[in-house]
Amino acid sequence: KEDKKLLPETVTALVEIKNQTAGILVQSNGKIMEQLFKPYPEVEDKEGYEILLRQLGALTHMEVEKNAIPERLSLLEQYMVERTEELNISERWAQAQPNKSIQSMIGWKGAREPSYWDLHEQVHGPHAIVGGTSGSGKSEFLTTYLMGLAINFSPEDIGMLIIDWKGGGIAHTLSDLPHFMGAITNLDGAGTARALASINAELKKRQALFNTYGVNNINGYMKLYRERHHPREGVLYPREALPHLILVSDEFAELKENVPEFLTELTSVARIGRSLGVHLILATQKPDGVVNDQIDANSKSKVALKMSDENNSRALIKTVDAAHISTAGRGYLRVGESELYELFQSGYGGVAYTPGGAEEEIKDERIYAINELGQAELLYDPREEVVDQEKEKEEPESQLSAVIKSIKAVFEASDYQKPQQPWLPNLPEKIATPMVKVGNERRLKIPLGLLDIPSAQRQDVYNFDLDEHSHTVIFSSPGFGKSTTLQTLVMNLARQNTPEHLHFNLLDFGTNGLLPLKNLPHVADMVMLEEEEKLSKMLGRISSALVTRKALFKAEGVANLTQYESKTKEQLPILVNVLDAYDNLTPQDKRKDAIDELLMQVLREGQALGIYLVLTAGRYNGIRMNMMANIQTKLALFLNEDSDLGSIIGREKLEQVEVQGRGQVKLEQALSVQIYLPAQAENEAQLLEMLEHEIKLMDEAWTGVRPERIPMVGEHVDFEQFETFDKEKFYLGLNKSDAQPVTFELFKGQPLTLLSSNKKQTLFLGEFIAEQLADFEGDIIKIDFIGNLTDVPSSLAIGKEEITKQSVDVREALGALTISQKEEQRIVILNGLSQILAKLQVTAEAFIELLEETNENTQYILLDLFNNIGSPMNLMTKAIKENLQHILFAGDMQSQALVDLSMEERKRKFALQEMFYLNDESLNMLVLPRKGGGEDE
Ligand SMILES: Nc1ncnc2c1ncn2[C@@H]1O[C@H](COP(=O)(O)OP(=O)(O)OP(=O)(O)O)[C@@H](O)[C@H]1O
Ligand SMILES: [Mg+2]
Repeated sequence: KEDKKLLPETVTALVEIKNQTAGILVQSNGKIMEQLFKPYPEVEDKEGYEILLRQLGALTHMEVEKNAIPERLSLLEQYMVERTEELNISERWAQAQPNKSIQSMIGWKGAREPSYWDLHEQVHGPHAIVGGTSGSGKSEFLTTYLMGLAINFSPEDIGMLIIDWKGGGIAHTLSDLPHFMGAITNLDGAGTARALASINAELKKRQALFNTYGVNNINGYMKLYRERHHPREGVLYPREALPHLILVSDEFAELKENVPEFLTELTSVARIGRSLGVHLILATQKPDGVVNDQIDANSKSKVALKMSDENNSRALIKTVDAAHISTAGRGYLRVGESELYELFQSGYGGVAYTPGGAEEEIKDERIYAINELGQAELLYDPREEVVDQEKEKEEPESQLSAVIKSIKAVFEASDYQKPQQPWLPNLPEKIATPMVKVGNERRLKIPLGLLDIPSAQRQDVYNFDLDEHSHTVIFSSPGFGKSTTLQTLVMNLARQNTPEHLHFNLLDFGTNGLLPLKNLPHVADMVMLEEEEKLSKMLGRISSALVTRKALFKAEGVANLTQYESKTKEQLPILVNVLDAYDNLTPQDKRKDAIDELLMQVLREGQALGIYLVLTAGRYNGIRMNMMANIQTKLALFLNEDSDLGSIIGREKLEQVEVQGRGQVKLEQALSVQIYLPAQAENEAQLLEMLEHEIKLMDEAWTGVRPERIPMVGEHVDFEQFETFDKEKFYLGLNKSDAQPVTFELFKGQPLTLLSSNKKQTLFLGEFIAEQLADFEGDIIKIDFIGNLTDVPSSLAIGKEEITKQSVDVREALGALTISQKEEQRIVILNGLSQILAKLQVTAEAFIELLEETNENTQYILLDLFNNIGSPMNLMTKAIKENLQHILFAGDMQSQALVDLSMEERKRKFALQEMFYLNDESLNMLVLPRKGGGEDE
């Protein structure tokens, strides 16, 4: 009797033949007859037989329907419509009762006889396994099934999640459906943990929601949800629809093999999914041994498309039938032991959508020539004509996309809500920072990136708050976004605060990563590792900022910036020291200890003082342990060494993704984050341009106070640099430490001593003096033993010869000059002081005495080579050291006794225009001006 059901409906009569003489006409035209007859009646008249056969021979056999199940079926044919509107989607959605059934048509089991499948847990569900060898139409079948769900149920009732091992496939096809809740397509490495966390979170969320509303399954929950517009008193109604989730994993066997952890998670879905309304459909080529007992026991439905062999067929549906299928898209649906076993042909959505008419018949317009041998030679083929290369060949729209389009349209025109997505798409690889605006208040909290929180099914802005996160280190291997992260951080802080609120010191030990930020009005200055002097000044400034603030707070009796500001009602700018590529400062670098010591001080004391350090490094070991211990926030971008990541994030570290700007931070848990790009741009070049432009505007717009630049003097200084060149003054040069001009006042009874390092510098000094005395109106007396002061103008010149030959005369002249009461000012220059005194037989003491008696109208300028004066053996040295102020000198600092110098300073080499200036015990390095700057040398 069972078998009768399987007969095609075109069978009109059923005959049972027991033997030659006994038969029963069981059924005719649908009526039960149970009429007995004799199948082979004995015929006496043998000729009558022959006539009978001849008469039958004239009949032509007319083929009715060979097989009730069509060979092929399109998606729309399946629903027996031509146009998508005829599907009446919105009515179907309105009438759906997913608490009772989630039935969907999967194809036809006979002519115009639909085959339905219902994964509702009380019908064919909750879970299913689908098998089919390659080319069997597995993915198409799943697509048709899911499309059926989407046609019949709104997104509030049904949602779909696709786990696609290698991407593409169904996830791609169906992503436009409003029912589509996401896809996990990247299951290498990091994707897995994320997907597992997301699925887990969805299960937990459902359980929690059921608890809140006092229901124990999805049907109860959705009943409440539907009743929310007609509430009863005292009942709490949910606002969020919870759809049945159909979790489809195509290529499950491969998934299991590559990501074994997944099986565990899916097994737990199989176990508890029933009440939670989560349905699993696991599709695979070879089902044999792929699923475990737990999943198998919960998978009441099995669908077998063409299977590769009888074993696989038997493993899935207990019969060998599926091994013998020869048509794509044809399959057996088996439910339970014997609940259902039927063959169907599923509808195919890939055919062209041609509403209101069959597809135009394509005529064969090819022309052949038939040759003598009867062979056809193609002469003309219209399909080979080059039509228009510009125009994309227009693909006719498929039924699938037409149906998806109308489902979308129905959804958009409706009031249905799109339920929250159980998992969000992977973090994008490039995200521009959201814009932030400057305010009246100082605000140190800025958006820095996008966090992925699969366990909470959220993606949130990663806000960086200098107050809270304090000192911060960012690690990455070369080229993965250290500098860019700093750029975003600095830009957003600068966008949100004025230079009154916030200053930056930029220390770039890397490859110019901070350069684009240099012109921000908030930036004091930028310094590179190789700029020794500037770096040391920058460090000095940071150090003195620490000292000054500490003293300031002490004076006010406060412990930190907050207290200071609330007590004094005065705001101090926050100081952010931004240090890129810190580990380029090698342990061999002689500056490292001093720099580390300062950084440690900032790390330990800075936060209370409003002084912060944000630095980057390429490797974990690049930063000393004691420094690491004082850095609150650690951000890891991609690192070649996985062990480094472990040291930074800890055991919870996530699998790394090799994407620029992608990293992880440890908040309550380790989370992955995509750091924002500092501006919206198409490419890197444009990004720089945008930054440059924006910074220029900021710079021009800011009229308030700015942090001071680090004063720097180059090796070369021009007289023109003394902008308001005052002819009355004698300029010594620019002080290298503060870049301020240093002047010497003539005629104050103080001689000026210049000790040069070599002849070349002596010549330069001659030029230097000549330039400054060019407009001097009094007498210049030049006693030039060395003979290289030719450029210096003079009213009286005494040379080497005269000094040697007429030493007595010269000595007397010198004495006379000193005591003369002449009102007019005059300058006396002695070039080659030590030799002049030796020739004149004047002791150092006597000469000093002579100078002390000098009246205010005489100005001595004393010159010599440093070697002649500075050496420890020299008697002059002591006298000069003790009695003269205003000494400019340069030379070999190793063997000199003029001043006490550090080891470092003793190794110093001097450029032509550089000289120390010793004045009242204070020692400064000056750069002396030169006409034309001296750049050409
Ligand atoms: N957050 C990000 N989002 C997208 N792309 C980024 C991001 N950060 C960096 N990149 C890309 O990576 C490139 C290298 O970045 P960056 O110069 O910041 O790396 P780095 O770690 O400082 O490199 P190096 O070690 O050479 O100094 C950038 O030019 C940019 O193309
Ligand atoms: Mg860099």
